[in-house]
Amino acid sequence: MQNLIFTNDVEGAIERLIASGDHNITAWIADTNTARLMPAPPHLITIPDGDSNKTLETVCRVWDEMERFGVTRHSLIVNLGGGMVCDLGGFAAATFKRGVRFINVPTTLLGAVDAAVGGKTGLNYNGLKNEIGAFAPASDIIISTRFFDTLPLPEMKSGFAEVLKHAMLSDRAEFLHLLDHDFSAPINHDDLLERLQHSVQVKVNIVARDPNEQGERKALNLGHTVGHAFESLAMKRGKPVPHGYAVAWGLVTEAVLSHLLLKFPSDDVHRLGNFTRDNYRDFPFTCDDYHELLDLMRHDKKSRDGEITCTLLTAIGDYHIDQTVTPDDVAAALDILRDHL
Ligand SMILES: NC(=O)c1ccc[n+]([C@@H]2O[C@H](COP(=O)([O-])OP(=O)(O)OC[C@H]3O[C@@H](n4cnc5c(N)ncnc54)[C@H](O)[C@@H]3O)[C@@H](O)[C@H]2O)c1
Repeated sequence: MQNLIFTNDVEGAIERLIASGDHNITAWIADTNTARLMPAPPHLITIPDGDSNKTLETVCRVWDEMERFGVTRHSLIVNLGGGMVCDLGGFAAATFKRGVRFINVPTTLLGAVDAAVGGKTGLNYNGLKNEIGAFAPASDIIISTRFFDTLPLPEMKSGFAEVLKHAMLSDRAEFLHLLDHDFSAPINHDDLLERLQHSVQVKVNIVARDPNEQGERKALNLGHTVGHAFESLAMKRGKPVPHGYAVAWGLVTEAVLSHLLLKFPSDDVHRLGNFTRDNYRDFPFTCDDYHELLDLMRHDKKSRDGEITCTLLTAIGDYHIDQTVTPDDVAAALDILRDHL
């Protein structure tokens, strides 16, 4: 069970966690940007930022530093950063001397509602995303909004797509509340911390029922069968799009599929489509790309036997995993997505 702490007094929460254990050393892992977000601690391991550095080479450098600092199984590792630091730092800690306790302090919205929670760690290998990794939960996760003031807007929007996804899996009132969000307004920290609490709980509940992704956890893949295809094709063309933008477009497409196949209400499709049009612009694909997109969906990690499978909804909060969709269904949904955007 992971201990979740929601607070904007991050220093206080970390101090209490350190004091609660008998650790010989606390070592911190941060990237070049997140290292600046808190006063420099004595044992700081700084790694280069960005997903292209989520590699075995970086992990080796972290292990080297851990040795140099004298990290043992009685130490504590603090991962301060976005999903990249939490994934890589968690992996490095979980494998060093067969496992050192670590806590996550996510500094991005995506990290807070997704990457830091749920126990997946990993790194990219041979050009494949998250190809190496282990299920290794952080003992504690300190979730805070106080780092978000410096977060670039596309990163904020990217994480918000996962917040929307969690609401779509759980609660229509929350879904409608989120659709009122105005990214141009200053961050309302109290409201956002409450939204995070709600959002993280959705993931925690699902993961608790299926920690190793044998069934229900696939619900968290909502928006991602199609979203990953957008992300991969954009990457292949050398014009990457933020993960959450691809997820937002994927959520709309899969909401349309849910409407076509499971009678998901069309007014909720429209609401989501309009929010996506207003906030996640510059959809880079046309109908000429459908063939390649469909191919990518057939080869998605979570699809089987060349079939395209998605998580679909009959209504907000009522999800169905492993739903097979035909290429024609997806093409029709993509047409409707493009009409919206
Ligand atoms: N383990 C999981 O379950 C899981 C789930 C989703 C995503 N992920 C992984 O998470 C990663 C993406 O996470 P991310 O979107 O947080 O990216 P990231 O960690 O790469 O952060 C994005 C950028 O923002 C910078 N940054 C971080 N916090 C900042 C702040 N407060 N102010 C200013 N700049 C800041 C970082 O230095 C980086 O340049 C990917 O590697 C993805 O595979 C893992």
